[in-house]
Amino acid sequence: MLSWDEFDKEDSEVATVKGANAGHATEANMDRLDNAGGAAAIEARAVTADDSAAVARAKAALNSLDVAEGLAELEGASARVAVDEKRMINCRADLNQLVPFKYDWAWQKYLDGCANHWMPQEVNMTADIALWKDPEGLTDDERRIVMRNLGFFSTADSLVANNLVLAVYRLITNPECRQYILRQAFEEAIHTHAYQYCIESLAMDEGEIFNMYHEIPSVAKKAAWGLKYTRSISDPKFETGTPDTDKELLRNLIAYYCVLEGIFFYCGFTQILSMGRRNKMTGVAEQFQYILRDESMHLNFGIDVINQIKIENPHLWDAEMKEEATQMILQGTQLEIEYARDTMPRGVLGMNAAMMEDYLKFIANRRLSQIGLKEEYPGTTNPFPWMSEIMDLKKEKNFFETRVIEYQTGGALSWD
Ligand SMILES: [Fe+2]
Ligand SMILES: [Fe+2]
Repeated sequence: MLSWDEFDKEDSEVATVKGANAGHATEANMDRLDNAGGAAAIEARAVTADDSAAVARAKAALNSLDVAEGLAELEGASARVAVDEKRMINCRADLNQLVPFKYDWAWQKYLDGCANHWMPQEVNMTADIALWKDPEGLTDDERRIVMRNLGFFSTADSLVANNLVLAVYRLITNPECRQYILRQAFEEAIHTHAYQYCIESLAMDEGEIFNMYHEIPSVAKKAAWGLKYTRSISDPKFETGTPDTDKELLRNLIAYYCVLEGIFFYCGFTQILSMGRRNKMTGVAEQFQYILRDESMHLNFGIDVINQIKIENPHLWDAEMKEEATQMILQGTQLEIEYARDTMPRGVLGMNAAMMEDYLKFIANRRLSQIGLKEEYPGTTNPFPWMSEIMDLKKEKNFFETRVIEYQTGGALSWD
């Protein structure tokens, strides 16, 4: 049992150690830990008459555990972390120490993401089910929009989640950013859950929807474009640390944050939300509204990460890389324009493919300027200003303040 008396007594000792070794764990310190821990462990590990054979074996196995092996692995990063040592990529400081924070914006986004928590089952789908079953409920063009978008998004969010967890997380060497990436990964799981929930509620053909990214060219091309950029960095042997490999990671971040989440989602979001504004498929639209809000935070986080990497590694952001980043955003815009034409062969829901093309060019200009590149579609205006209103987190704050109350009280557990 820990007692404050012990801490008081050891204060002067700790101060001496800190002064002499600038915060490094010393051999003397380690010996002290070993001895204190050793005595308690020997006592706790003694086999008693009540122990089963399995418990006795577990205790015996711990007697031969080599703690030094684990400690040696941490040796290179055994110091207390100073803010100046923190880096977005190729950092040598201990990544298990969250504080002190260097990138407050990442921690703040983690907190904001948690405060906006939601779950798909909270959304009422009754009206959607009735409308979807009614043969007169929606036009063929409206049905096509619902099907195509569930088809695209149901796998796109998995692609994003896989890229995050299997590639990006390991290569971003900063704990506060990793904390947000873990939050984002969970939100991506919630998004995939939301699409699954819509597909199940509407009794759609699951195989048709989930395999659409192989079967429908306008959906398949977007997925294939994204996969191209995760291929090399998701190799477990891939390491950053040279200009070429650092650029490879930067390319992936631009592809996933600026293009996949920043452009490929926008035609579908606009179509489904426009449907909700016309009082059709309101449950699906509500799910998409929460998802869009999460996505706009993912995008802003990604932009901050990309810009911070540029600040810390200016040599990566050379003319060639700028040209490549511009091309990636323009290619993504082009693919999204093709998707808009495929999903809207005629005018529908007060919009058409030409208006969507203007909107996508407006979005592309934003993405380019957000990472410090020149806008490529001068003079484009936003034909759907209501989309910006929906994305504005501050305006919707009251909604979340009332809605998430159950989750927030979960933070104040009582142990009575
Ligand atoms: Fe998502
Ligand atoms: Fe996302």
